[in-house]
Amino acid sequence: MLVAPSILSADFGRLAEEVRAICDAGCDLVHVDVMDGHFVPNMTIGPVVVEAVAKAATKPLDVHLMVEDNNFFVDLFAPLKPEFISFHLESERHPDRLMHKIRDLGIRPALVLNPHTLPEMTEYLLEGLDMVLLMSVNPGFGGQKFIPQVIEKAKRLKDLIEKRNPDCLIEVDGGVSDRNIAELKAAGVDVAVAGSYVFKHPQGYAEAIASLKQ
Ligand code: DX5
Ligand code: ZN
Repeated sequence: MLVAPSILSADFGRLAEEVRAICDAGCDLVHVDVMDGHFVPNMTIGPVVVEAVAKAATKPLDVHLMVEDNNFFVDLFAPLKPEFISFHLESERHPDRLMHKIRDLGIRPALVLNPHTLPEMTEYLLEGLDMVLLMSVNPGFGGQKFIPQVIEKAKRLKDLIEKRNPDCLIEVDGGVSDRNIAELKAAGVDVAVAGSYVFKHPQGYAEAIASLKQ
């Protein structure tokens, strides 16, 4: 299991230090949540702050857009060269066009599904995607309760991926912890995003990340 701590739960007063700490603690990706106050009822950070995150990080960035104007935000973040940019199917009229645009910018495209969106909605996009992110909470906030239906959804998505593009990764985001990680792995999930579990772990970041990897 690859682990992508979400910096939404980090101490933003010491952001660079926090980013260095999770990278030193063995994370695989640094998950950056971008919220515009329209698509989700919360706002986070823009390219100025994410540039500082990119400078501090020794692991690649995984930028999760929770915005209405995906094109605008892809253009804003592309110069920072994240490994992945993911956008929500629910906020994009032309997902096929946008995933090709992201790839043409030299970034790996990922598509995000809210809890209600059927995994079958990805079927004719999978060949152009490097990752599908399944939300296991309603997007907008850290520290919410895991929605267990995502396990069955991951299994259904895995079947489609085997058929259409076996290289495409499955990522799950929201309420991930040592209590559901084994089930997620068994369902075919490759990348676990974890915010509050990592940043509030009593034994520290390295322990938290290690407990999700095994
Ligand atoms: C929610 C964000 C998540 C969030 C996860 O909209 O996309 O990345 O930070 O936080 P936890 O792991 O605390 O649920
Ligand atoms: Zn996220």
